[in-house]
Amino acid sequence: MLTCPPAAVSPVTRITIHLIAAARPNFMKIAPLYHALEKEKWAKPVIVHTGQHYDLNMSDAFFQDLGLPEPHIHLGVGSGTHAEQTGRVMMAYEKVLLETKPDMVIVVGDVNSTLACTIATVKISYDTLKNSGPRPVVAHLEAGLRSFDRTMPEEINRIVTDSLAEILWTPSQDGNDNLIREGVAKEKIVMVGNIMIDSLEMMRKKIEEIDLCPEFNLEKGEYGLVTLHRPSNVDDLDMLKEICSILIRISEKMPLLFPVHPRTRKNLEKYGLIKMLYNSKKLILSDPMSYIRFMSVVFNCRLVITDSGGIQEETTYLGIPCLTMRPNTERPVTVTQGSNRLCTLKNLEQSVSDILSEKNGDYSIPELWDGKTADRVVKSIKNRFRLHNLPKKSL
Ligand code: UD1
Repeated sequence: MLTCPPAAVSPVTRITIHLIAAARPNFMKIAPLYHALEKEKWAKPVIVHTGQHYDLNMSDAFFQDLGLPEPHIHLGVGSGTHAEQTGRVMMAYEKVLLETKPDMVIVVGDVNSTLACTIATVKISYDTLKNSGPRPVVAHLEAGLRSFDRTMPEEINRIVTDSLAEILWTPSQDGNDNLIREGVAKEKIVMVGNIMIDSLEMMRKKIEEIDLCPEFNLEKGEYGLVTLHRPSNVDDLDMLKEICSILIRISEKMPLLFPVHPRTRKNLEKYGLIKMLYNSKKLILSDPMSYIRFMSVVFNCRLVITDSGGIQEETTYLGIPCLTMRPNTERPVTVTQGSNRLCTLKNLEQSVSDILSEKNGDYSIPELWDGKTADRVVKSIKNRFRLHNLPKKSL
C-alpha cells in the first residue's frame, strides 16, 4: 500500500531524515543515530521533539548528556489522555510534514508519539490535489517487540506502528519472529541490535567518571535501585500502597535509591503515600536523573527493581540482576539470556533475598548488543536509498 519503489539518489542529493523523539526513553535511542548520520554527507538528520516529556529532568538534561543539539523542530504537545496526546501529535506533525517534506521518518520505541507520527506520515500526501505521490519512508527502530498484553498502551503502539512502517529494525531474534508471525514481509525486517547499548558505550567514560554514592550516602554495590512508572503499578491506590510497604521492608535489609517518575510522584502525592516513603530512612527518594547520573547509579548498584523496558536491557548488558515488576515483558531475551526476572508483589521480597544470597549469575549478552547498532541502521538506510560508495563528511 505505502511502499514506494526504492529511490536512486544522486551523490549531490541529501536525504532529509526526521528522528522523532518524544519521551525520556526515546532520547537514548535517537542520540547514537543522530551522531552517526551527522557524519554522512548524504544525510540531513532533523530532530523532531513532540514534547510528550517536557520537564527539564525528563528531557533537556538528556539532550545535554547525549550531546544532542536543541531539537530542530518542537511540537510542544505536552500531556493529555491517550487520544488527546496522540491526536495533538498527529495534527502538529502533519503540518510539519507538509512544510518540510522529509524523505524519511524514523520513529523509535513504543510511546504515543511513535504511533502518532507513523500514522501522520503514512497518510500524508505531498501532492494534496492528487492525494498521491511519494511519501516519506517510515522506519521503526526497536520493531517487533511484543508483551502480548493489550492492556498496555505501549503494546497497541507497537502493533500499529509495526503494521504500518516500511522498514522494521529489530533488536533481537524474537522481534523478527513476532513480525513474521504477524505476516510482515521478510524484506522489511532488518535485525540491527539494541541501540540503547550504543548510547551506553558512547557515554561509558563519562558515566564511570562520576560517583553519586556519597551524595546519597550509599556504598558501592550495596544498594538497590528502584524505578516505577507503569500505570498498572502506580495508578491504583491499593497496588501503589502495597508496593510502598514492600519497598520500605526491603530497604531495612538493603538501602534503596528511588528516582521518582512524574507520574508516580503525582500519584504518591494524590494518595497521601509520599510522606510514608520520606519517613523511611533507608529508602532514598530523588528527582528523575539525567542519563549519565542515572547510569552511574545503575553501574554501582547491587540489583534493580523496575517496570521500565530500557532498564531490563541495560541491566542485561551489564550483568546486573534485575527484578521486573510486571507479569510479562516485551523483551524476553533479557529473561532467557540476561539477568532479568519477572516478579509479582507476592514474591518481590523473596526474589531480593534470593539475589542477595546468590553468587554471580549465568548470564549472557544477546547477539548484536554491541554498540554498533547505529552503523547497521545507517547501512540499512543507504541500502534503501541506494546510496553506496558515497563519502563521509570528513572525507
Ligand atoms: C511515557 C510512555 C511510556 C514510557 C514513559 C517513560 C506512552 C503511552 N507512555 O509514559 O511508554 O515508558 O513515558 O517515562 O507514551 N509528566 C510530567 N513531566 C514530564 C512528562 C510527564 O510531569 O516531563 C507527567 C504528565 O503530566 C502525566 C504523567 O507525567 O501526568 C505521565 O506522562 P505521560 O507522557 O503521559 O506518560 P508516562 O507515564 O511518562
